[in-house]
Amino acid sequence: MTVSSHFTHKNGLLHAENVPLDTLAAHHGTPLYVYSRAALKEAWDSYQSAIKGRNVLICYGMKANSNLAVLNEFRQWGAGFDIVSGGELARVLAVGGDASKVVFSGVGKQAWEMQAALKAGVKCFNVESEAELDRLAQVAQETGHIAPVSLRVNPDVDAKTHPYISTGLKENKFGIAIEAALAVYERAGTYPSLRVVGLDCHIGSQITEVSPYLDALEKLIQLIKTLAQRGINLHHLDLGGGIGIRYTNEQPLSPGELIDKVFATLQAHGLDHLQLVLEPGRSLVGNAGALLTRVQYLKPGDARNFAIVDAAMNDLIRPTLYEAWHDVEAVSPRETGPDTPVYDIVGPICESGDWLARQRQLNLQPHDLLAIMSAGAYAFSMSSQYNTRPRAAEIMVDGQQVHVVRPRETVESLFESERILP
Ligand code: LLP
Repeated sequence: MTVSSHFTHKNGLLHAENVPLDTLAAHHGTPLYVYSRAALKEAWDSYQSAIKGRNVLICYGMKANSNLAVLNEFRQWGAGFDIVSGGELARVLAVGGDASKVVFSGVGKQAWEMQAALKAGVKCFNVESEAELDRLAQVAQETGHIAPVSLRVNPDVDAKTHPYISTGLKENKFGIAIEAALAVYERAGTYPSLRVVGLDCHIGSQITEVSPYLDALEKLIQLIKTLAQRGINLHHLDLGGGIGIRYTNEQPLSPGELIDKVFATLQAHGLDHLQLVLEPGRSLVGNAGALLTRVQYLKPGDARNFAIVDAAMNDLIRPTLYEAWHDVEAVSPRETGPDTPVYDIVGPICESGDWLARQRQLNLQPHDLLAIMSAGAYAFSMSSQYNTRPRAAEIMVDGQQVHVVRPRETVESLFESERILP
């Protein structure tokens, strides 16, 4: 059993949908990112069926995987997008995305990015500080726009996830402290170039329980009531992204559980007229991807056995950055027994931190193919060219069909724009 029902062994060979992964490796080389369109659709549908006619907008947190093919599928299915840069906005527009379904998050928006988003007509800016509010008001005024604004507040709740991906605590750089938010909303009201439309928070990522969301929601509801008493009425409430996925045996909350409990709480407070916005990233794409890599060398040792593969931390940095666990599946598994060695799966980069998985019992031979699972989110999108390694190709499988959605980079392309001194 793998973590995704769209990556399964059939006749002893790991497939993405109906395509055997050894065939993909033979045609396209390794390391190779392989995505399943059916898995994307299934994840999307899990949100759609959870909505049950309620007013919910799903803005895909596209930093998780911003390949145009992925964006275009979500766009066709009706998604909006959560963007964090002018670059991400350009990607959304490149696939014909509807800017009126785009929310713009991030603590460091620059003036040019604000201008581009105003011109495109985004749904709202999730403003994260007073200084940003002032700048946005100025940019909007100078360009003759009225900027729709939501404040991202920091509710100071513990998302119970890895500290590097926890964002809703006071010590994090994100959002406006919830106690300070009323004053910032009132300040926003003094600018003719701003229009207050919502309230936003995002408390972290890879969250597996519903309780941190409900803790945050209670605090936001108190704020919404205080705002209403001051005559500030909101159109939407954005609870950010964060729903976790199964990397190995986690049992994360479902979109249905979250949306049902949120609406039940809103209803209890007479606030279910608000539109709910969610910004899921990982839960829409994480288990729709695998990173295919080939074993180059086996290096047995006294302390550790290493399997040196052709993928590396430049392709997938999550293990070394967060000590993240990704399941490793042999594409063509051999039998294992008590004597089967335990390997650290490492890449060729000159850093001890260059590892993809540790202490995995696998019956390996050089040239074997391995699939690093759950590599659809924060995988290619966080990749680099460190050690002058071209970034991997990306493939989208759809049933039996194979689409190259990003060719492998060439070595020459990595430095073709560089110049030596005259
Ligand atoms: N909205 C905002 C404002 C965000 O900052 C994020 C993610 C999301 C939505 C989407 O969150 P998701 O549904 O994917 O949890 N690189 C890390 C994850 C960083 C998440 C950053 N923010 C990792 O590989 O685990």
